[in-house]
Amino acid sequence: MLGLRILAVVVALMVLVGACEETPQAEATTDQDAPSPGTATAQSTAMPAPDANAVWAYIAETQPYTQWQPWPGKPDMYPGQSPHGAYLKLYVNPAAMQALQAGNTTMPDRAILVKENYAADQSTLVAITPMYKIDGYNPSAGDWFWAKYGPEGQVMTAGKVDSCIECHQKAEGDDWLFTKLQ
Ligand code: HEC
Repeated sequence: MLGLRILAVVVALMVLVGACEETPQAEATTDQDAPSPGTATAQSTAMPAPDANAVWAYIAETQPYTQWQPWPGKPDMYPGQSPHGAYLKLYVNPAAMQALQAGNTTMPDRAILVKENYAADQSTLVAITPMYKIDGYNPSAGDWFWAKYGPEGQVMTAGKVDSCIECHQKAEGDDWLFTKLQ
């Protein structure tokens, strides 16, 4: 009997945990599994709502993207093409990294890619263009939230941005991503 009860409790907990995972905006989890800086996992903090300022706060302060890894196999900075910068840096959050390390370029829910766009002098940061995967957010365009910020986080555009979507559509078969695993 006791065994059955324990089983029932375990099942109930699993259902609860599963329910929480389906709401990205769920409240922050307790601090006990708070990650140390640099080893953060995307799952350990509440994800931002699909809102330009919330996403900026997350990538600039909550989980600073500058502490994330570069796209595997890409140098820290590499030449880009129009309309992005002359030079680019591409950072991926732990959720994205996990998929990429498993050889998977289809990004999971909560994956964030942050691209810094630099001028030809390789030091003037011109814009920051993230893509943030939110399951169910925009199924007709890969469920990506797109944004473009100035170097200080000024919102230039955000959301289901037509211009981003129209061009990235060429890479639709690769989860709307141009960058490949090498
Ligand atoms: C005219 C085409 C075009 C438009 C418009 C465009 N991109 Fe891109 N994007 C590219 C190309 C090409 C790459 C590959 C990197 C490179 O060489 O510049 C890229 C790369 C990226 C990457 C790195 C992941 C990947 O797909 O390789 C992100 C993130 C990104 N773009 C975000 C955006 C956002 C956000 C917008 C809108 C504000 C946008 N892009 C608009 C063409 C475009």
